[in-house]
Amino acid sequence: MAKNGNISTSVIKRLPRYYRFLGELDKQGVERISSRELSERMNLTASQIRQDLNCFGGFGQQGYGYHVASLRDEIGHILGVDKEFPTILIGAGNLGKAIAMHINFGTRGCRLAGIFDANPRLTGETVGSIAIRHTDEIEEFCKDEHPVIAVLCIPKANTQAIADKLVELGIKSFWNFSHYDLTIDHKGIEVENVHLGDSLLTLTYRTNQLGKAEEE
Ligand code: NAI
Repeated sequence: MAKNGNISTSVIKRLPRYYRFLGELDKQGVERISSRELSERMNLTASQIRQDLNCFGGFGQQGYGYHVASLRDEIGHILGVDKEFPTILIGAGNLGKAIAMHINFGTRGCRLAGIFDANPRLTGETVGSIAIRHTDEIEEFCKDEHPVIAVLCIPKANTQAIADKLVELGIKSFWNFSHYDLTIDHKGIEVENVHLGDSLLTLTYRTNQLGKAEEE
């Protein structure tokens, strides 16, 4: 159980990684792990791990380490993986289809309920088991299905207008891939802007540093 609601963003950002590592350990049949062992596997310091997990009330027992399955379940619960947030995806182009096919929404607390695209030629085409609907149907769909999360895979230029409309239709959270840093002026709306290219730039920076070290 979280000790308080004010968990820092950096801790929250590390939780999915804990969740993933603990899931792998659980699959390998590991029952208990010390913060030292976990830190070695995750390339974090043991004190960082203890500090992070203390934000949620500990979980560990001095001398016994952490119980892998329970810790994973607790972190999963904090992350909301045991929820089933109805989710829609807007923009069924190359990226949208790839996300719809390859992200396991179900294991991440979301149920992909609908896929929409403005291109009428895509209407009725299926992605996995979901038929693409025309964007004209979004309003009615939202009234019936009450989706709360929207995945945006549309061109930059359309993003803000679509997002504003979706907020009016009840969307609370955006997973935004559209190369546009979405900002929503309403309270109680969450945005996660994703730029895969930023991750690549972090790598090019580090690669660049390697080159400099070799020159020295
Ligand atoms: P795409 O052209 O294959 O697909 C875009 C789809 O959005 C099309 O099917 C189009 O009909 C639809 N669309 C356009 N306006 C719409 C609207 N108002 N409502 C609903 N659907 C609409 O493009 P792709 O490759 O799938 O990329 C989509 C976006 O994602 C682009 O803006 C691209 O720059 C961005 N992107 C972002 C990445 C990231 O890391 N954040 C990585 C790759 C692409």
